[in-house]
Amino acid sequence: SDEELHARIVAARETLGDRIVILGHYYQRDEIVAYADFVGDSFQLANAALTRPDAEAIVFCGVHFMAETADILARDEQHVILPNLAAGCSMADMADSESVEAAWEELAEVYGFDASQEIDEGWFERNPGVKLPVIPVTYMNSSAALKAFCGRHGGIVCTSSNARTVLEWAFERGERVLFFPDQHLGRNTAKAMGVPLEQMPMWNPRKDLGGNTSAELDDARVILWHGFCSVHKRFTTAQIDAAREQHPGVQVVVHPECPMPVVDAADAAGSTELIRRFVAEAAPGSTIAIGTEVNMVNRLAAQHPDKTIFCLDPVICPCSTMYRIHPGYLAWTLEGLVEGEWRNEIQVDPDVATHARVALTRMLAAAP
Ligand code: 13P
Ligand code: SF4
Repeated sequence: SDEELHARIVAARETLGDRIVILGHYYQRDEIVAYADFVGDSFQLANAALTRPDAEAIVFCGVHFMAETADILARDEQHVILPNLAAGCSMADMADSESVEAAWEELAEVYGFDASQEIDEGWFERNPGVKLPVIPVTYMNSSAALKAFCGRHGGIVCTSSNARTVLEWAFERGERVLFFPDQHLGRNTAKAMGVPLEQMPMWNPRKDLGGNTSAELDDARVILWHGFCSVHKRFTTAQIDAAREQHPGVQVVVHPECPMPVVDAADAAGSTELIRRFVAEAAPGSTIAIGTEVNMVNRLAAQHPDKTIFCLDPVICPCSTMYRIHPGYLAWTLEGLVEGEWRNEIQVDPDVATHARVALTRMLAAAP
């Protein structure tokens, strides 16, 4: 029963004390967030992992790429636990390393650079003012292998809260950017920076379907990957129109993983943390429609009873993989730690981790 699970989690947590830290993403269900020492968006949680170097284990209540990131940033002796290994991210799965490596080789031919050249840590400092033909930028929501790819090729990681600062970093060091996996975050961010849509072609390796034209690639500033978030792509401008009609004066705030017309029609767009602040800072009595994951929206509604807060999508839209972190798995993994067993440990290959750390460190330095 729920009560039994609660008692098991509390008992294991008490025994473990400061030996562990539990991190919870905002999209986790309330029954999990209740046990988290830190709750935040993916950027805040990457930093939170760094604040507890003393903890033996980081129990990451989020999805696979977040636990991988924590393992890359954590000390070697620290263990990172993902309570349910099936908690992945469909967007992250949309960019696999083989396809990105193949794209890189094709781009190297188009722009005349050496696809195998390593642009390691310190390369930019040793080569001031040199601009590379293409800088790879990966959204945090990607595998460790892709972060390592960026680390090796002069690239960087971004999150939804620092995508603009990271793109500015990239444009200072390169002529153009290959942005993966989320086309929407790439397009929305570059558009806000004034990059025209014609200069943001979608990468199309399918020559049988036309491929990319050479004019398109000549003019490109941001080459977008075809990934998307299955939760955020559900939001539509029709939902915003309906909210404005039914609630005159409503303020609409959405996540930048939403399609561009939705971001354009909203009053504000930003990361999970920006949405949280937008709601907190709105005047009492405000009505706010939110375009993001429903667990987060419902929690904000409960925390602000003086405001009317609702999800733009009338059909419930949780992130099904975030939802796979159930209290039963949390209890089982915590009890494992009590017994000295690392259940569901996430261990990134050391070589991959070394290169991925370069791309993550570039991000943390560019956007602290
Ligand atoms: P942020 O936590 O960066 O806002 O990302 C949202 C998300 O989709 C996480 O998977
Ligand atoms: Fe992935 Fe979207 Fe779920 Fe985030 S909300 S974990 S991007 S599927």
